[in-house]
Amino acid sequence: MRRSTSTTSSKSASAPPRPLSGTRATAVIAAAGSGSRLGAGGPKALVPIGGRPLVAWSLDAVRRAQAIDAIVVAAPPAHVDELRELAGDDVAVVPGGASRSESVARALAAAAGEFAVVHDAARPLASPELFDGIVAALAEDPGVAGLVAAAPVIDTIKRCRGEELEVVETPDRSEFWAIQTPQAFRADALRAALDVPTERLATATDDASLVEAAGGRVRVYPVAEPNPKLTRPVDRFLIEALLRERETLTR
Ligand code: CTP
Ligand code: MG
Repeated sequence: MRRSTSTTSSKSASAPPRPLSGTRATAVIAAAGSGSRLGAGGPKALVPIGGRPLVAWSLDAVRRAQAIDAIVVAAPPAHVDELRELAGDDVAVVPGGASRSESVARALAAAAGEFAVVHDAARPLASPELFDGIVAALAEDPGVAGLVAAAPVIDTIKRCRGEELEVVETPDRSEFWAIQTPQAFRADALRAALDVPTERLATATDDASLVEAAGGRVRVYPVAEPNPKLTRPVDRFLIEALLRERETLTR
């Protein structure tokens, strides 16, 4: 999807990812959260990061991804018009729900195409190449319902119990992955997985877990580039530094 809009910068001239003929994917951007942990006094998707609203970075990336041919954004219900203005006419904006997965389900209802790629607006470093790569990998593996972007866990993981947090197990770290977005799915599998009561949607911390619970196979798509999530105020420092570094490298 390549268009010139107010949120697309001059960097679209950089090396194009490999073409994906016949692949049709809709990007579903979850941007309806309130950002309570960030505490910016307004919805996180609209908080200025690196000089532009947070969600603008993800919109840029999916616009430049060749595998993406449609974009749907779940917006905070009170900010739908603002998001429409910011995103432009080629983006569908729907009011989000009370939980993240409910927002995704609402946006997915407005999505067409064989594949749906869900992405959190809170991860502004995800690149067009990452979107293209994960869709290509999904298209190449008909046996899986979804692929999730992920990085190897760096810290040692321990399972603890009770109020005293007694350690009961130190599992083999090499089996653990820190899961991110984008997460790419066969759209019908994601639709079926999200067709559960809203209370169940509210317990899910990602979409793949619902697909797994519905019996779908999910694989990790390893991501080497930093793809941090803006959650707490301190995250802003790293994210803005990385965005600055990327701008410098691609200028
Ligand atoms: N999200 C959403 N709809 C919701 C809740 C979250 O679309 N009802 C989106 C957020 O906008 C964000 C992504 O899901 O892009 C990941 O959620 P998170 O980082 O938890 O963002 P918030 O829910 O906004 O933050 P907090 O939990 O601190 O309130
Ligand atoms: Mg949240």
